[in-house]
Amino acid sequence: MKLTRPHLRRVMPTVFAAVVTGCRLESTQSAVHPAAEAAREIATLGWIMGGMLAVSFLLVMALVWIAVHRAPSAERNEPAHIRRRTGVLVIAGGIALPGFILVAMLFASLHTALALRKPLEGIRIQVTGHQWWWDVRYPETGIVIANELYLPADEPAVIELRAADVIHSFWVPNLHGKIDLLPETVTRIVLEPGKPGEWRGQCAEFCGRQHAWMALKVIALPRPEFDAWIEARRSPPPPPPSPDSRRARGEAVFFRESCHVCHTIEGTRAVGKVGPDLTHLNSRLTLGAGRVPHTEDNLARWIIDPQSLKPGNLMPATPLVADDLTALIGYLRSVP
Ligand code: CUA
Repeated sequence: MKLTRPHLRRVMPTVFAAVVTGCRLESTQSAVHPAAEAAREIATLGWIMGGMLAVSFLLVMALVWIAVHRAPSAERNEPAHIRRRTGVLVIAGGIALPGFILVAMLFASLHTALALRKPLEGIRIQVTGHQWWWDVRYPETGIVIANELYLPADEPAVIELRAADVIHSFWVPNLHGKIDLLPETVTRIVLEPGKPGEWRGQCAEFCGRQHAWMALKVIALPRPEFDAWIEARRSPPPPPPSPDSRRARGEAVFFRESCHVCHTIEGTRAVGKVGPDLTHLNSRLTLGAGRVPHTEDNLARWIIDPQSLKPGNLMPATPLVADDLTALIGYLRSVP
């Protein structure tokens, strides 16, 4: 099919919209669909800068067009007033206009930077970036989860960020800008969604082979629901399984296969720190930091051969006979 001008006119806005929205119509991970005040400030700055750059680009292209089509010929001796006009144009267009645009952008950036400054007050949440998952801790209540960040919707949360290995970058574009996670230093960002909702965060600094699968789900709940979520995770761990029970068999597999060397389950002697804490595994929405939905089948796949789902991650394969696998999953399902 031959593309005609009317075709292009109809198609181009769609292409443009797809490009600026990251080719997705949903808006749970998008800097141009801000949900919080901070993200709105950043998006506004982005549009202002984009607009100024678009105008500058068109202006430069127009000047190039004039230069190409209306250039004075070399042989012709230009009268003095034309040479003067050219000089004025060069100074205005080459120094004054870019100077004005850069200063305007500087002031717009400073305005945004000041608007983003927030006092470090609110609920404290510690987030540590690992290759390639997120450890999330609520120090006031001792709750430890992974790859999900639950927040109260209408109040600020101070996120304290660290890196366990290499530099990562915390980015929930609907809520705020990017901030690096560094191995030696704590960085902080204040998130205040302002309304309940769910958004997707993503590590935004290349950190190795599975950088793209270092996703983080952010869930903002109204305060009463957030309190209920905390309370549900503070219930005491279940008592140890009675000998000869199915749960005891699963627990035996867990320790026989050395899962406890890397993982923690509260209330047991599993206190490993290498992989995600498994105490609240059952409420996890995904496995492998967003890699696959958390289903029974995917959990079995992950235990038996995690490298097939996320090559390069630190968890080794655990070949198990079917009965041991079922018992192990049953045991994991029995922790809160
Ligand atoms: Cu962590 Cu990219």
